[in-house]
Order: sequence, then C-alpha cells, then structure tokens
Amino acid sequence: MTPYQSTAAQLTDSFGREVNYLRLSVTDRCNLRCTYCMAEDMRFLPRQQILSLEELRDTAAAFVDLGVRKIRLTGGEPLIRRDILKLVGSLASLPGLDELTMTSNGVMLPTMAQPLKDAGLSRINISIDSLKPERFKELTRVGNLHEVLAGIKAAAAVGFKRVKLNAVILAGFNDDEVLDLARFAVDNSMDISFIEEMPLGEISSHKRSNTQITSAQIRQQLDQEFNLLDSAETTGGPSRYAAVAGSQSKIGFISPMSNNFCSSCNRVRLTAEGRLLLCLGNEHSLDLREILRAYPGDAERLKSSIIKAMGNKPERHYFDPQQVDIVRFMNMTGG
Ligand code: GTP
Ligand code: 5AD
Ligand code: SF4
Repeated sequence: MTPYQSTAAQLTDSFGREVNYLRLSVTDRCNLRCTYCMAEDMRFLPRQQILSLEELRDTAAAFVDLGVRKIRLTGGEPLIRRDILKLVGSLASLPGLDELTMTSNGVMLPTMAQPLKDAGLSRINISIDSLKPERFKELTRVGNLHEVLAGIKAAAAVGFKRVKLNAVILAGFNDDEVLDLARFAVDNSMDISFIEEMPLGEISSHKRSNTQITSAQIRQQLDQEFNLLDSAETTGGPSRYAAVAGSQSKIGFISPMSNNFCSSCNRVRLTAEGRLLLCLGNEHSLDLREILRAYPGDAERLKSSIIKAMGNKPERHYFDPQQVDIVRFMNMTGG
C-alpha cells in the first residue's frame, strides 16, 4: 500500500459528524477588495509563511487518505497563485478524491479556464454580487464587471458543468438585484447561491448590522417571479437548494446567520499559512505548518495529528452582526 492509498473515513468529531470535505486556501491575496470581505488597507502574509506547493500537496494527500472526498481550493483568489495549475494537476490525480473544486472571483478565468479544466479541476464556483458595472466597482473597490462576465462565459465555454454563482446580498447595497442575478443564472443554465453576510473581520465601509438580510427575505423576492421547488439535493456544501421550475437551474440559500446548518457540518479548512481551522466561526485550530516543517515527509505523524484535531471541532458557530468576534477576515480562509 502506498502511503496515501485511500482507506475508509477516519475523521469523525466528538458530535459524530464525519468530515469528508476540505477547503484549502492557497493564498490570502486577492486582485479584488470586496468591502464586506476585506479592510481597505489589508496587509498580506509574507511568502515564507504561506504553505509551499509540496506542503499543500502532502496535506491534501493526508486528508484524502483519511477519507476526505471533496477538496475546494479557495483564497483570497486562488488563481493569483503562480503554481496553481501544478497544484490542481497533482491533487486531481489523488486516488480516492471524488471532486476537486474551486471558488474564484472569475477575473482570471478568461485565460485560466481551459488550463484548469485540462489540469483536472472538476467544478467551479464564481462570485458575482452585482450586474451593474459601477456598483460592482464600488463593492469590489477595484473590480471590472466585464472581466468577471468574460470569466463566467469562459468557464461555461470550456465545458465546466454546473457552474455555480455566489452572491453575498447586503441590504441597501445590492438587495434590489436579487431577481436580476437569479435571471442571469437561469438564462445561462447556471446555479446561484445567495449568501448571508457574516461578521468576519472589522471593516470600515459599512456597519454589518445595517446590511443584514435573511435568506427568507431573499426567497420572498424570488417567489414573485420563479416557481421554486424545494429540493433535498446536496453538493456536500451548506446551500439549501430549490429547483427553478421550467429550467435547469437551482437556487441555493446559504444562511449562516438566520438558519444554523452546523449539525450537518462535514468540513474543515486549512488557512493559507497552514492553520487547520475546525470551524469558520470559531478559532479552534491546529498549526499544521509547524508539523510539516518540523517533520517533512512524515505522513503518519501528519495524519495522526489531523485525527486528534477532530476532537476539538466545535459544535456550532454563534455569529452576532452587532459584534465582530472573529478578527480573521474571509480572505484568510476562503469562506
Ligand atoms: P458547492 O460545493 O457548490 O455546494 O459549494 P459550497 O457552498 O460548499 O462552497 P462555496 O465556496 O460556494 O461556499 C459559499 C459560501 O458559503 C462560502 O464562501 C461561505 O460564505 C459559506 N460557507 C461555506 N461553508 C461554510 C461553513 O462551514 N460555515 C459557514 N458559516 N459558512 C460557510
Ligand atoms: N460573509 C459572507 N460571505 C463572504 N464572502 C467573503 N466575505 C464574506 C462575508 N463576510 C464570500 C465571497 C465569496 C466567498 C469566497 O466568500 O463573496 O463568494
Ligand atoms: Fe477577493 Fe473573494 Fe474577498 Fe472579494 S470576497 S476580496 S474576490 S477573496
């Protein structure tokens, strides 16, 4: 048996939840500066603190060996990382991995979609919060909507199946675009998830308590135009999906604020600097970089540390939009 040959699921936490999904942040850097995600004067990690390609591959392989079946590459913006295609290539061929996916802001997809497909990426989610060029610029501080639209088009054109769009909805900023965004997804035979904003990191652009809008309120808007049929289908992520009657599209609702989904949580995250985060909304973590650098190539030690860390996975997150308990910004963990 090779050191990384797949075995049965071995990652179970103290609440009986099986962990089979790893979200791997490959960089904290991004070519956009979304107001709800980052502070304007964001400082990024020095390169030597970020896991190397080999460290990322060894960690991913250890997780797959322990029963992880789905890996999502995130950032910051994962396509900013220069060796991303090499990483995709080496992870795609891990025996036992069912799905290698990515969440991207789409800006670099016009040139990267085809090489990513060729390297073995199975699926891609693309964030888009507005279809109005000026508003898109305002929300992302520097973004150009047309680049993202071209990226979405490129992802579909090279044959990625079930491209999913992600939109964070902020009351008073883009809640008047829910129907337009849904129509855009349906017209392009894509899925879309609407996400509630989480209080991760102190921001200056707006008060998060003023921009909260629930999935139920978003759904009310959608019900005016679409016949939504609730579906039990799951991708292993936190979205609750509804099929749009008469189309191939699904609309997802990600409701970390209004409808806690932690009882079915199946995932953990690795930050760009190698901290294994057991929950997005808590600080419980294990420094895997320290282990990787102290014992290079020691897959057994890595795996036993990961197994032990599962006992530390918290039961659930508690988010309060009035208060930022988590000082970590989303770009450290990719959501
Ligand atoms: P699919 O595999 O396509 O269903 O994707 P996914 O929903 O698992 O991943 P995606 O990157 O599209 O996630 C969208 C957003 O959901 C993330 O950016 C987060 O905002 C949120 N999210 C994902 N997982 C969690 C979680 O465990 N806890 C919380 N609070 N939010 C999460
Ligand atoms: N709350 C909810 N979603 C967020 N994202 C970034 N910051 C936040 C936040 N504070 C989303 C992005 C993207 C994904 C990577 O995370 O819009 O879809
Ligand atoms: Fe970059 Fe995504 Fe954060 Fe926007 S939400 S700044 S695209 S990491």
